Amino acid sequence: MNNYEKYKTHMRKIADVSYASGVLNWDQETYMPQGGAEIRAQQLSTLAGIVHELSSAGEFGTLLNTLSADTSLSEKEKRNIKQSLKNYNDSKKYTTAFVQEMSRSVSEAFQAWQQAKEKSDFSLFAPKLEKLVQLKREECKLLGYENHPYDALLNQYEPGAKTKDIEILFADVRSQLVDFVKQIAAAPQNTDAFMYRHYDKQKQWNFGIDLLRQMGYDFNHGRQDVSSHPFTTNFSSQDVRVTTRIAENNLSEMIWSCIHEGGHALYEQGLPISEYGLPSGEYISLGIHESQSRLWENNVGRSLAYWKGNITLLKKYFAEELKDITAEDFYKAMNLVKPSLIRTNADEVTYHFHIMIRFEIEKALIEGSIEVKDLPSFWNKKYKEYLGIEVPTDAQGVLQDIHWSHGSFGYFPTYSLGSFYAAQFFAKAQEQIPNLAGEIEKGNMALLLKWLRQQIHQYGKFYPADELCEKITGEKLSFGYFMDYVKNKYKYIYNL
Ligand code: CO
Repeated sequence: MNNYEKYKTHMRKIADVSYASGVLNWDQETYMPQGGAEIRAQQLSTLAGIVHELSSAGEFGTLLNTLSADTSLSEKEKRNIKQSLKNYNDSKKYTTAFVQEMSRSVSEAFQAWQQAKEKSDFSLFAPKLEKLVQLKREECKLLGYENHPYDALLNQYEPGAKTKDIEILFADVRSQLVDFVKQIAAAPQNTDAFMYRHYDKQKQWNFGIDLLRQMGYDFNHGRQDVSSHPFTTNFSSQDVRVTTRIAENNLSEMIWSCIHEGGHALYEQGLPISEYGLPSGEYISLGIHESQSRLWENNVGRSLAYWKGNITLLKKYFAEELKDITAEDFYKAMNLVKPSLIRTNADEVTYHFHIMIRFEIEKALIEGSIEVKDLPSFWNKKYKEYLGIEVPTDAQGVLQDIHWSHGSFGYFPTYSLGSFYAAQFFAKAQEQIPNLAGEIEKGNMALLLKWLRQQIHQYGKFYPADELCEKITGEKLSFGYFMDYVKNKYKYIYNL
């Protein structure tokens, strides 16, 4: 066996163990009886330990270093080695003591956050969060960075992204989106009241399956189940699971989770199985992953063409409930823009203010220009400033998201990156696929899926996000595409 073959074998062993714990995680969120929780936690921790040992083994490092000097490798092989060596070196920067302290602090912070949220009292969470922030500041030093310490954290979710680039994007959000939302607020408002009628759960489920099929989700290589928070997970590109949540008195919950998670799943199903376990078989970044879910959810699923096509199918299930509703009514109801308190309920326009606020807070916390005790007042001030709303309680404010209690700092910006990449990719797809809207209206999503497979999915991690974006669209990521998309759409919807 030559060195590259040895590398592949070792990487696949790591993947086998990781994906085995993925199955256990999926089961925990869907079917596991409550009594199984304790031993399941132990099983997951054992598997995580094995993955860590395999990933940081000294011989593996020697092999990677030898291969990184091997000029006979193909370009793809070289990029895989470069990526794996970077991960290996990063994992070596952590001492065991630091990892253990982080893991303990995260469990404590998570418990404190749950209680604090329930009682809507930030002070219950603050001391644990202070500890986590201190560890995160230390982590930035361990990992190293060129310009801003926050870069080190951002890179864990969006490799190559820089704090200053995110600042530029959000400066555009601030200067262009704030006024646009004010214009919308001043216009006559549409209604979505009919979305909250009674909709039979089984019929909703069946409609969701129809939507997934129509997108091209392959049920031979996946399945859908129910969970309290919808998610996508995969055990290889041959087995990609999605979950949904169905509310009897809210039709939109199921529809959006199906299309959103379906978009994530199509990306995973499109990754090349021949590259299993290697960087060339993995997704690029969270921003690119989210671009796939949001392209389907927003650019496709919230378009007029999509509902002109699918209203007939929907009415097969809900003829009585929707007898007074046209595709146009449905389209407008799906696209209400209204500043709100909770990020996960936000529309696709005001959503980015929620992210901008979190980004400003995280950056300030990590660089030390604010401290944890300042968070609630800082948060409330920003919500007033960007969204024009008063935050009544900590639970509906600074305590609403799970991310910080998990120690996930640097994650939030990838949500906005996802929407902005989606708008830029979709603009290119419209240029390159003749009459894309017409095809979507006919329920033919195959051309779009083929385009995404060719442009994005097939490469795995071969191209970094910025390189891929330039390759597909001829330019760097630019907020202008998102702005054009929302302007065109909402000028029509709100008669601006
Ligand atoms: Co998502």
